[in-house]
Amino acid sequence: MRILSGIQPSGALHIGNYLGAIRQYVALQEGNDAYYFVADYHALTSVRDPALLRKYVSDVLIDLLSLGLDPDRVVLFVQSDVPETVELSWLLTSVTPMGWLEKCVSYKDKVQQGLPAEHGLFAYPVLQAADILLYDADLVPVGQDQKQHLEITRDVAERFNNVYGKKKEVFRLPEPYILDSVAVVPGLDGRKMSKSYNNTIEIFDEPAVIRKKVKKFVTDSTPVEAPKNPDTDPLFGLFKLFAKPEDRDEVERRYREGGIGYGEVKIRLGEALVETFAAARERRAEWVAHPERVAEVRAAGAAKARATARKVLDRARSACGLG
Ligand code: ADP
Ligand code: TRP
Repeated sequence: MRILSGIQPSGALHIGNYLGAIRQYVALQEGNDAYYFVADYHALTSVRDPALLRKYVSDVLIDLLSLGLDPDRVVLFVQSDVPETVELSWLLTSVTPMGWLEKCVSYKDKVQQGLPAEHGLFAYPVLQAADILLYDADLVPVGQDQKQHLEITRDVAERFNNVYGKKKEVFRLPEPYILDSVAVVPGLDGRKMSKSYNNTIEIFDEPAVIRKKVKKFVTDSTPVEAPKNPDTDPLFGLFKLFAKPEDRDEVERRYREGGIGYGEVKIRLGEALVETFAAARERRAEWVAHPERVAEVRAAGAAKARATARKVLDRARSACGLG
């Protein structure tokens, strides 16, 4: 199957990105034909400092490599290294009704959080549709927040196919791949973990910083002795995703029986996080020490991605009467 996903270089990656998306990227690289990219065109809607954008792009590439993407098995690239994306985006935008974009929750959210209501932000889902359709993707691993964007992608593809497809379909319709257990990873305040809510734990923070941040997790005032419900407690919800099975079972039992305080769970969560990412942290130091290797991966990824993209773009251009 052709797998494709992208992640914006708009800040350091957090454990919600890891569980909701990157862990699936790594799992799906086995036995599939996977394309993963750093969505820098998309990040232009929020990052306005050129030096910072360059740094974020390079950081996210390094992070993805460190977390286990194997450049010999996947095509790892930077979105703007494939300018064909923007051309396809225009072809798609020409058949996209305004109403579909007006109902986008993510656009409304971002404007409410203070991002300017610019056309790029409004048209963001069409650019995302171009990303996906340009590679004939079958499956797109993402978190729950991207579900609506995937629906729009399918709608736009169908619309284009109907308008221009004649007897053959131009675009393949992709499916989202969203794992229920990690569809929405909670942040330090119990809301969805997100850069824009300032409630994140970064994957590659120093261990001391991770341990400290975890202590800020907001909990209720249930006393240590009282039984607690592990099924509804967001702190346990996060702990169980990183703990070893025996630790998870022990803490779960003590929640139900009473006798475990949130303070202890926070300390154990901090340790579990530091341990989970220890190997990735070592690999990261290697990549950071060899920027020329990262540059090679980027260039090779761009060449492969462009070759695939060109064919699909030509199909779309020809279908609508260009060239
Ligand atoms: P953020 O919301 O922090 O800006 P992004 O939009 O860059 O994160 O998300 C990149 C990927 O990580 C997407 O696939 C998104 O669905 C996923 N993701 C982000 N936050 C979470 C979360 N809290 N739980 C599950 N998946 C998430
Ligand atoms: N919009 C996605 C996010 O904020 C990033 C993204 C851009 C993406 N293009 C994509 C995800 C294509 C999947 C497929 O997380």
